[in-house]
Amino acid sequence: MQTSQVRITVNGCVIDTEPTRSILEAMIDAGETLIDGVGCMGQGVCGSCRVLVRRQGESEVLSALACETRACEGLQVAFLDHLPMHRHHVYAMDDWNGDSWRILERINATFPEAQHCRHCGGCDSACPKHLEVHKGVMLAAAGDLSAADCFDECIMCDLCTIACPELISPNHLGLYVRRLSTAIGFRPADLVLRLHQIERGEMVIDQDVASTQP
Ligand code: SF4
Ligand code: SF4
Ligand code: FES
Repeated sequence: MQTSQVRITVNGCVIDTEPTRSILEAMIDAGETLIDGVGCMGQGVCGSCRVLVRRQGESEVLSALACETRACEGLQVAFLDHLPMHRHHVYAMDDWNGDSWRILERINATFPEAQHCRHCGGCDSACPKHLEVHKGVMLAAAGDLSAADCFDECIMCDLCTIACPELISPNHLGLYVRRLSTAIGFRPADLVLRLHQIERGEMVIDQDVASTQP
């Protein structure tokens, strides 16, 4: 092993790589065929490459995304399989006529387990995007749709669900409140801004670019 290289262990396999490489890049360099545990190939948006990591000399095991975590000497990595859902949440968005007086009732009926949050913060610690997951759960459990903002950048990696001792699925609760929020007319602020920019001619759409064609 060259001195500029580091040695990591991924699912029990030893890989020598450079410290500038992410765990996923190191696996590709080593000739691994990636058939699961990967999706967006390093953009950090699909949530597929969730792993547990332990750094050399540390006892704490942390959750992370393999595509956003750089290799370092002695890093131990274990990919997490997709787990079956604790429970399935079945709901329709069009059977309540947007009656905002029933938001709390709807959330309680669909995600009753959210009331059992023990405020342990496990979901916050697990989130590789550093979202305010616990705050989002608390707001949603109180019927406050501003909870949706807490999950704006959620990539549905399920790490918060795995971490929750009360079998709450914070990310699915977050998705639900985002849907409720939109169903009663709260449009995403960044989308509204973008549409205004297009209307004012500040964002020119080049119709000749292939990706803009239908
Ligand atoms: S809120 Fe949960 S599912 Fe979303 S990014 Fe954070 S840990 Fe992943
Ligand atoms: S991990 Fe579960 S119980 Fe703990 S704060 Fe998050 S939602 Fe609540
Ligand atoms: S490969 Fe998509 S988040 Fe890592």
